[in-house]
Amino acid sequence: MKILVTGGTGYIGSHTVVELLNKGHHVVIIDNLSNSQAFVVERIEEITGRKPEFHRFDLTDKAVTDAFFAAHHDLDGVIHFAAFKAVGESMTDPLMYYRNNLDSLINILQGMKDNGIKNLVFSSSCTVYGQPDKLPVKETSPVKEAWSPYGNTKQMSEQMIKFAVQAYGLKCIALRYFNPIGAHDSALIGELPLGEPNNLVPYITQTGIGIRKSLQVFGSDYNTPDGTAIRDYIHVVDLAKAHVVAVDRMISEVGKGDFEIFNLGTGNGYSVLEVIKSFEKVSGLKLNYRIVARRPGDIEKVWADTSYANKELKWKAEKSLDEMMRTAWNWEKALSEKK
Ligand code: WQD
Repeated sequence: MKILVTGGTGYIGSHTVVELLNKGHHVVIIDNLSNSQAFVVERIEEITGRKPEFHRFDLTDKAVTDAFFAAHHDLDGVIHFAAFKAVGESMTDPLMYYRNNLDSLINILQGMKDNGIKNLVFSSSCTVYGQPDKLPVKETSPVKEAWSPYGNTKQMSEQMIKFAVQAYGLKCIALRYFNPIGAHDSALIGELPLGEPNNLVPYITQTGIGIRKSLQVFGSDYNTPDGTAIRDYIHVVDLAKAHVVAVDRMISEVGKGDFEIFNLGTGNGYSVLEVIKSFEKVSGLKLNYRIVARRPGDIEKVWADTSYANKELKWKAEKSLDEMMRTAWNWEKALSEKK
């Protein structure tokens, strides 16, 4: 099948392109390289032996996006990753997040509608739940008041898609990710933050390799066993594989309804200090970190109830926290050798 992957040179996008190519799909990537680099396309070819089509442009540009969809009206599906995604950054520049994340989605939905392209997998996020009252969090758990503009763009995007599906006869599977970390076993692709990382794991590995002096742990006064915040970390390759299952589910029309939602997590929550401990175990290094104040916009704890995705998608995250940290560290070391 011919699948469009927006944000396909990005972190989760590139790992998903690898899994799609491994499954024999033909892949077209759109990326504006605002948070990724073009060499990722060659790395994907090195891993899979197949080269995806690559178009570099910004999806907030309606005219260019319209022209792209008109020229690719034979697409069997779209997997939409392209968005800004840092919780902390969205607190400091909300308008940049609303404009980028919503305008690009509107242009994609328009292109799909105008060219009879039916199937959309949408990259959503557990941030739509805010701080859940009950854990583990289910797909039916209430979507609460967003704690950040980033989370709000994901909530608004899901609602926009729901109405577009109803009005235009599209189909969508929204995948609510928990915290994707780790890298491909080949250490040829991985998380590639431009500038200072916003996310925990690249900050840890950059501290380990010496790019950063020390890690700041945002808060140790949470109501958790060791006082640091808890997240459901999931290996990016496990996450990527779920996208292939989701797009195949829609194309083969075995879905239950036109707008399905699945939580993609492991079902286990780990604290910041537990992630640090795992890094120290797999790297053999002592990580330099210090406890500082909480980061605005952060929730205290969240982990997924994955039973619905496990049952319906016949998909389950397999990799352990240590495997996630080992591949993240191997990738960081490979990056430093490349420089
Ligand atoms: C994780 C924990 C921080 C950096 C991410 C993505 C978002 C969404 C949800 C997919 C928090 C702490 C972090 C640091 C720290 N994923 N931390 N020091 O905020 O949960 O959101 O997952 O859609 O796109 O950004 O991830 O890695 O920033 O933070 O102590 O230098 O690590 O406080 O508790 P977050 P994160």
